[in-house]
Amino acid sequence: MATEILPLTPRAVRLDDVQQDLLRLLQATPAHLSGEQLGARLGLSRTAVWKRIERLRALGYQVDGSPRRGYRLTPGQDLLFPAEISAALPLTWLQGSVYHFVSLPSTNDTAKELARQGAPEGTLVLAETQSAGRGRLGRTWESPPGTGLYLSLLLRPPLPPVELPRLTLLAAVAVVEAIQAATGLRTGIKWPNDIIFQGKKLGGILTEMETESDAMRHVVLGVGLNLNTPAFPEHLREIATSLAGTGRTYSRLATLRAFLTAMDRLYGRFLNQEFPAILDRWRQLSVTLGKTVTIRRGADVHTGLALDVALDGALLLARPDGSVERILSGEIQQASCS
Ligand code: BTN
Repeated sequence: MATEILPLTPRAVRLDDVQQDLLRLLQATPAHLSGEQLGARLGLSRTAVWKRIERLRALGYQVDGSPRRGYRLTPGQDLLFPAEISAALPLTWLQGSVYHFVSLPSTNDTAKELARQGAPEGTLVLAETQSAGRGRLGRTWESPPGTGLYLSLLLRPPLPPVELPRLTLLAAVAVVEAIQAATGLRTGIKWPNDIIFQGKKLGGILTEMETESDAMRHVVLGVGLNLNTPAFPEHLREIATSLAGTGRTYSRLATLRAFLTAMDRLYGRFLNQEFPAILDRWRQLSVTLGKTVTIRRGADVHTGLALDVALDGALLLARPDGSVERILSGEIQQASCS
């Protein structure tokens, strides 16, 4: 598990080692365990066990039981167990520590702090909920507890900053492939990197970088996925979705592990100069190409037929006058991308 290079932001809430051990024990035992049994295994008094259980409950973990019957984790919760996140995954590139938080302002901000403290490539920051989750273009990212995935991955590619859009496209491919592997459901990508399910936004990617001369010092790749989110606030209802409408609940842990697996494989190929093949995969998954789209970038509005995405990540737009415009950033407005 994580090396302690904390303290980080004072608003970060994290399980301590004893809480993690307690959680692991409860998870491994479907029957009730008495306070005495738990205490004996953890080297704690019964009162100390009770206090720890209350603390877990206060952090949002549902534990049923009573001092008489003992305790067990309420079945059916979709919990992320820190020790299981990358356990036994055959990762080559993404072997950093996993930092699991109950609550953070923003996983991207914490990952950036860790990066500045020298955390290695592959460091993963996860939060059950974010109080100030950030989206692209200065938006906020709604991050209710327990139902979505909110994560940031730290990368240190030895490349110039112009390569950043490629990493974002790559991450979108990894997310779509992970969802397919973990849930069997097909999703698509709206340029540059919105994850689309049945015409609405299921997830998004916020890539942030710090540079040094003409190289990336580090990249923080933030992914937000509304996996099982049951409902959205009024202002998002028309545009946001989750997989809850399918009537099933999908495992956040399985999706996360599938994402790390896909990301590790694609990142290895990217470092091995195989980006053109990854871009081909992005094209197959795109719900933008071949559609007439309107793109807003500040006050600029561009409308045209989305022809292709170039190797640098630019969207190639055929204008009504026959010219082809390269759009490097912006947001597709039109709902025609479903
Ligand atoms: C978008 O606007 O589409 C990008 C959304 C990215 C949200 C994720 S949630 C985890 C990470 N931490 C943040 O504050 N933002 C990203």
